[in-house]
Amino acid sequence: MRLEPLRRKHVRRCVEIERILFPGDSPWNAGAFHSELDAGGYYLVALTDDDEVSGYAGLATMGTPGDWETAVHTIGVLPQRQGEGIGTALLEALLERADQLDAPVFLEVRTDNDSAIRLYERHGFSRVGLRKRYYQPSGADAYTMTRPARQAQEVAR
Ligand SMILES: CC(C)(COP(=O)(O)OP(=O)(O)OC[C@H]1O[C@@H](n2cnc3c(N)ncnc32)[C@H](O)[C@@H]1OP(=O)(O)O)[C@@H](O)C(=O)NCCC(=O)NCCS
Repeated sequence: MRLEPLRRKHVRRCVEIERILFPGDSPWNAGAFHSELDAGGYYLVALTDDDEVSGYAGLATMGTPGDWETAVHTIGVLPQRQGEGIGTALLEALLERADQLDAPVFLEVRTDNDSAIRLYERHGFSRVGLRKRYYQPSGADAYTMTRPARQAQEVAR
């Protein structure tokens, strides 16, 4: 498995995987992926030796130099490839990018998504809010989670 920048040629497969992973929570269509790439988002794919997409993840950056803020906009791994460390590798690559910018990271996660919540907590995220009926059409609730900027993590140690 290797990580590479998500390119336009990967979008079709990512859309198929989104539909498998998030059937009731408005899976992203191709336009959503292209908009994120147009906006300069940091998007990665996990590829097999045969160049098949096993997973993908993306980080959006907002703000101005010296005052950046980032958000994990998506992360997903094919069901048959989950539990092999791919999600961890993708998330760690996004966090490395956020640390280079010394930016805090925000995300939303379904309150019943135990494995994703565990993954985020292992990587320094904590719950800061609850958004009722955040996901549609399922109506599922989301936790907002955040991980402090690198300098703030060092001060806290
Ligand atoms: C959340 C998600 C991205 C995690 O990806 P993943 O590739 O399964 O994550 P990892 O394999 O790195 O870690 C998952 C588990 O596998 C374990 N694991 C990691 N590497 C392993 C390995 N080589 N062998 C066995 N187990 C391993 C981890 O300890 C972890 O265990 P835990 O969750 O029980 O604590 C994935 O489950 C997913 O795509 N879910 C559906 C989409 C989704 O919910 N995305 C998040 C939206 S906010």
